[in-house]
Amino acid sequence: MGFSVNVRQSKTAIKVEVGDTILNAALKSGVQFPHGCQSGNCGACKSRLFSGDIQMSPYSEFALTKEEEESGLILACRSVPWSDCDLAYLEEDDLATFPIRELDCRVQKIEQYTHDIVRVCLDINSGGPFNFASGQYAKVSFDKFPSRDYSMANLPTDNFIEFHIRQISGGLTSTHANKKLVIGETVSLEGPFGVSYFRENHTGPLIAIGGGSGLAPIKSIVETALEKNRKRPIHLYFGARDTRDVYLESHFSNLANNHENFTYTCVLSEPKEHTKYRTGHLFEAVSNDFNSLDGAKAYLAGPPIMVETCVKELCDLGIRQEDCHADAFYTEAEKVELEVRK
Ligand code: FES
Repeated sequence: MGFSVNVRQSKTAIKVEVGDTILNAALKSGVQFPHGCQSGNCGACKSRLFSGDIQMSPYSEFALTKEEEESGLILACRSVPWSDCDLAYLEEDDLATFPIRELDCRVQKIEQYTHDIVRVCLDINSGGPFNFASGQYAKVSFDKFPSRDYSMANLPTDNFIEFHIRQISGGLTSTHANKKLVIGETVSLEGPFGVSYFRENHTGPLIAIGGGSGLAPIKSIVETALEKNRKRPIHLYFGARDTRDVYLESHFSNLANNHENFTYTCVLSEPKEHTKYRTGHLFEAVSNDFNSLDGAKAYLAGPPIMVETCVKELCDLGIRQEDCHADAFYTEAEKVELEVRK
């Protein structure tokens, strides 16, 4: 005895035993079905029910809002069918299938954020529109210098493109951007690229971790997440070496003051003097602040060692590896070193 559930993305209907959940039955029968916590906390298994009766056991409002439920969405991990059903899971990965474009842009604004990080804003001259998902990056070419990958720091809906460019010792492109760039200069751009983009369908808690100029894609993700959902908890951790490396502090402090669901924590790893900020490593700060992060999703960008240690800590706290979307920033010299080691 049981019910037949048609999952539209799958070729065959699945049989769900009485009392079993749709997600559990799908996974048992080898049907691919997006999922995370399997306990109603993350929203990864969110699906649209086209027909049939189901009963949902309790779940977090972060995973499925009242409005979403009223519009016909369900959580497959909490849904037990009481009749044959027809449904489709939401396909979050479709979000980032934007065409790769080549654009000609013009420098519209330059702002020195720290001693070695500059904010560069571009207007699009031709080749647009530039559609991307928060967290993605583009290949950017200044003048005759080699192109480099930089993440967009702005919202996808903005009518300009913003990058945070850290000057790398000996780096031609980053030095040009930090020291020589002028308003009006032409810049070529190709993109978007990258898979560490914001997953809109996950509506559970969000942990965002940025180190140095890795704050750029994290800024875009956090601001998009705040715009989409004013309830789910969002925690931003920004790591820098010392006070002089901290930027956008008042911006994020203001956001935290204006959004009850948002917290901002700045952590210094190598302060030379007594500081008002927290000190230590980012992974230690996260570990001190949470007992469990089951059902959360994490986005990380920054130096490889920072990303690695934080992902390990997040997994120890209960986030699945698949729910850690990470971009480690390798310099060109580090990339060469990695090639040699292979
Ligand atoms: S897998 Fe269903 S809410 Fe997380």
